[in-house]
Amino acid sequence: MWWQDAVVYQIYPRSFQDSDGDGVGDLRGIGRRLDHLTYLGVDAFWLSPIYPSPLADFGYDISNYTAVDPAFGTLGDLDELVAHAHERGLRVLLDLVPSHTSIEHPWFREHPDWYIWSPVDGPPNNWKAAFGGGAWSRDEQTGRWYLHTFYPEQPDLDWRNPEVVAAMQEVVRFWLRRGVDGFRVDAVNVLVKDAELRDDPPATETFPLPLVGESAELEHVYSADRPEVVDALAAIREAAGDALLVGEVYLPATRSARYLTQLDLVFAFELLFSPWEAEALRAAIGAAAELGRVAWVLSNHDFERLATRVGPENVRAAAVLLLTLPGAAFVYQGDEIGLPNGPGADPPYDRAGRDPLRHPMQWDASPAGGFTTGDPWLPPIDPAERNVEAQRGDPGSLLELYRTLIALRRGLGDGFRLVDAEPGVVAFERGGHTVAVNTTAEPRLAPAGELVLATHEGEGLPPHAALIMRN
Ligand code: GLC
Repeated sequence: MWWQDAVVYQIYPRSFQDSDGDGVGDLRGIGRRLDHLTYLGVDAFWLSPIYPSPLADFGYDISNYTAVDPAFGTLGDLDELVAHAHERGLRVLLDLVPSHTSIEHPWFREHPDWYIWSPVDGPPNNWKAAFGGGAWSRDEQTGRWYLHTFYPEQPDLDWRNPEVVAAMQEVVRFWLRRGVDGFRVDAVNVLVKDAELRDDPPATETFPLPLVGESAELEHVYSADRPEVVDALAAIREAAGDALLVGEVYLPATRSARYLTQLDLVFAFELLFSPWEAEALRAAIGAAAELGRVAWVLSNHDFERLATRVGPENVRAAAVLLLTLPGAAFVYQGDEIGLPNGPGADPPYDRAGRDPLRHPMQWDASPAGGFTTGDPWLPPIDPAERNVEAQRGDPGSLLELYRTLIALRRGLGDGFRLVDAEPGVVAFERGGHTVAVNTTAEPRLAPAGELVLATHEGEGLPPHAALIMRN
């Protein structure tokens, strides 16, 4: 399978490259920047949603599943992008958002029975929405209450209705016919809810991944992670054939196995949220490695940027960790140049506070960073200090480290074993290699062997450094 040890680059289309000067990235812009992806050496890219959307959730509220939002271009532009990507040996993944539509999707009025409605005049249970507040809202037009796991503008589809299943299968087939190679599947663990809409019990322990507001006070046994989710995923798999399906399963690895009966990969979210401390990282890696088919990931468009989360001093070691773990790895655009969180917008676009993670790519040192000739929808953060052009060809740059690691990772060999290491060090063996990551500000001893790669100069394993050794 091509994806087994693939590096997939996540593109946030609004912020990657603008081609028409409207300040918003688009598909033609992405096409102009494919060189960056082939230079890095990645195998594939994933496009966050490109479909028509009223932008309550920046594309994750879809009003037409089989079209391209005019801000991003046309279906023809998508076809062209896919063709150009394939010519260069790059695979293309789209974002499939099966659990909810935009409230402005015509389905909501034409097929109300495709959605989940309260049988009573008010919320029928205590379920909470992921971004805060209750999960039920009153539809002003009909006076009935509908379920939304996310924003009120995102009503949940009823996957117990076979017409919903058939419609979403048709969406999958539509894009596969256009040549895409797979999907990142959004919000998979909330796809199916309890048929009886029972109350979630109070949480008895802290959920291992971050939850917002009151949602954290409940144990999501009825509003999420239902056993029946496997049937829904089987229908998606049936339509997808052997196209890649990577699931956003927002659960710890120990609870993700059933999703892998239908999906190829699930994101290793415990790693994404792990503090940059050896013990926590080892635990997150160990659990995910045991699960097997995980997509390693350290950041995306929803959570703090990598450079901000681990600190700029640790971005080189983080790159080594991400790109030497066995299996597929996802890189969020900008992480390869060390882009931190930005200031966001005032007033914010995203009510859940995620603008800071979505600032434009910085291609060169010009004020708009080469992202647009117009007014960027979010300003570039620091293009004069940090950009692709300046880092390209500079052997000490983060970009070149990503590139080197991507080239090198295939040769690391099979097998994987976490090994004992000094305090504050994460170390593992792969094939005939040892990887050691120093999460501390103090020097540590280097593992034995012949040096293959070092993130920092100096004796032993310097502070914040990582080493790859051949045993
Ligand atoms: C996923 C997306 C996120 C979106 C949510 C609702 O978590 O990554 O951006 O807000 O689903 O669709």
